[in-house]
Amino acid sequence: MIKSFKKFLSASGKGMKRSAIREILKLLQKPGMISFAGGLPSPETFPVNDLKEIVSEVLEKEGAESLQYSTTEGDTGLRKALVERHNREGLNIGIGNLIITTGSQQALDLIAKILIDPGDYVICGLPSYLGGLNAFSVYGARLKGIPLDENGMKPDDLEKAILHLKVLGKKIKFIYVIPDFQNPAGITIPESGRLKILEIADRYDLLVVEDSPYREIRFEGESQRMMYSLDTKGRVITLCTFSKILSPGFRVGWVIGSPEILDRIVLAKQTADLCTSAFVQKIIARYIEKGLLENNLKKTIALYAERRNYMIGCLKKYMPENVTWTEPRGGLFLFVTLPGYMDADAILKKAIEKNVAFVAGSSFFCDDSGRNTMRLNFSFSGPPEIEEGMRRLASVISEEIKDKQD
Ligand SMILES: Cc1ncc(COP(=O)(O)O)c(C=O)c1O
Repeated sequence: MIKSFKKFLSASGKGMKRSAIREILKLLQKPGMISFAGGLPSPETFPVNDLKEIVSEVLEKEGAESLQYSTTEGDTGLRKALVERHNREGLNIGIGNLIITTGSQQALDLIAKILIDPGDYVICGLPSYLGGLNAFSVYGARLKGIPLDENGMKPDDLEKAILHLKVLGKKIKFIYVIPDFQNPAGITIPESGRLKILEIADRYDLLVVEDSPYREIRFEGESQRMMYSLDTKGRVITLCTFSKILSPGFRVGWVIGSPEILDRIVLAKQTADLCTSAFVQKIIARYIEKGLLENNLKKTIALYAERRNYMIGCLKKYMPENVTWTEPRGGLFLFVTLPGYMDADAILKKAIEKNVAFVAGSSFFCDDSGRNTMRLNFSFSGPPEIEEGMRRLASVISEEIKDKQD
């Protein structure tokens, strides 16, 4: 028997980090556990009955094609439906500007694969989606985090960081932005902020990766224009997904960009998985054609808005003084800040003993800061679990504050 595989591993194989979130998700199995950790949609939003019918229809009418390989770019019907949907909200794209990927996570991986040489810099938010950061790091990217305020990445800090890296002779490839109901902080960048980031990207000749899985889960306020549609130079690559608006189990997302960059992503996808499931793409295309997506989305938004409100109500009711949180106008998460001396990783261990889980914020800060923050998901659990989970969590935090004060 081989004792260890370590000596066979490549540098990137050795360097891969376990995702704190995936690890915590395993805890969901523990009986009695209430988890606010994963970015899980509520199963109540999965349209099982409609999909049963559509699956039969696809097999009956398009059986052969749906069970065949698809093109790497994706199913034409689905791409057209998505192009139409985007153009209705003001984009001006053709089918050559959109390809299908196996979830947005694959798009993040493929983008890193085609753009990153070891040592290249990616600029991201402090905090930012861990799965994106890990995807970039695997290809040897260095990460430079820019603090966020209530309007997202601070433009002055962004420019300063870019200048500093340039002085050091570092190569920066792209700015990674999650502009709508950001994961993890729940922040949305207003149009003025989006324009400033694009201006800076222009000035320093950088690409922008706009990752926007939560854009359509908006409870209130005006929808902000996509960075893709504000960009006049073709610098933006936009990632979208069905994971939060239909089903993460389908593993289908899409990328919008210039045909030249999409062509490279397609080449990279050919060595990754050849194509995304044709069967699933055809199911989704029919689901959209029948107008079912928009209806289901409305129900999903109403459900999540109710749960966000409920969670905020419980935070107000149970959390001790000096604990603050964001009140996102959409998405799946809110972000809690504890007093500066507190360590959310230590609190997580105690919380798990009390059968309540969250993700410690430090996972999302590429500079290891944010130790007193935590991300809470409000989409997955219903009101009774939210109430009980918040009660447990608040008691762990209150005890910790008391211990520190004694
Ligand atoms: C910001 C962000 N990007 C990408 C993804 C990955 O999404 P998908 O399920 O489409 O791979 C997630 C998932 O939570 C996310 O929050």
